[in-house]
Amino acid sequence: MTISEKIKHALDTDGVAILPPMDVFESIAILKETDICVNCTMLDPWYNKGFGGELPTSEYDDFITRLLNQTGEISDLMYLWGFPEIIGPYVRYAPSGFYMAAWLTWYYKNCPSVIRGWRSSQNACLQFMRKGHKLHPEHFLNDEQKEKFESGKMRFVPGPPSVIEAPLIIGFVGKKERTGHPSQKPEAVFDKLLLMANQKGDIVFDPMAGSGTTAACAKKHGMKSIVCDMNEDYIQMIEKRMGVNRIVT
Ligand SMILES: C[S@@+](CC[C@H](N)C(=O)[O-])C[C@H]1O[C@@H](n2cnc3c(N)ncnc32)[C@H](O)[C@@H]1O
Repeated sequence: MTISEKIKHALDTDGVAILPPMDVFESIAILKETDICVNCTMLDPWYNKGFGGELPTSEYDDFITRLLNQTGEISDLMYLWGFPEIIGPYVRYAPSGFYMAAWLTWYYKNCPSVIRGWRSSQNACLQFMRKGHKLHPEHFLNDEQKEKFESGKMRFVPGPPSVIEAPLIIGFVGKKERTGHPSQKPEAVFDKLLLMANQKGDIVFDPMAGSGTTAACAKKHGMKSIVCDMNEDYIQMIEKRMGVNRIVT
């Protein structure tokens, strides 16, 4: 079987395709070679600050530009995560044919204070969309609103707030979903991002998946996912979390 056939087979049988450990640009190149239609890509890289090390700004700029341009070739919507002060400049980096549709904030109150300054309590996420691509705010309606929406009587569909509040997974918080990954995102945050961007059956790609939060949330909402990470330990974490083995290439 070709790699494309193996990914498709894994998506059909397990709903998730876990690739073996590799660099983000290698997994993007693999998907470019296939005819698999990715609806949404989650880009949650290292943040160029603190944990994970720091590159000169121009090198980080090159990395982010390449990420956005290349994932823009295989998907219609990209989420890009980072500290607000790091990813702020990238609001102007939309690939050709895309626009920066939303600045989202994940707000958490429970970060331990480690410096004598503002206590970090937010992460930012930029949403880039292909022009003309549609979102799914209807996924956030209550039953009464859904009825109105389905009968075509709703003039304005209220969207979810662009600030998502969910505690950081730390200490006793988030024990049920904790994997041990040092920068695991809460499912409560990714749930909203995926529901806004996708419908049941859509394929989500996360090439720097860490503990596999994207895959876990996609499964919960009937979506499919293709996930990868450069680190062998994290691929094992994803396998354990999803109860599925990686694809053998
Ligand atoms: C912020 S974490 C992702 C956390 C993930 N969203 C979660 O909820 O568990 C960033 C991940 O990117 C991976 N990574 C960093 N650089 C990479 C690269 N060049 N290629 C592939 N993975 C990379 C790291 O190993 C790390 O697991």
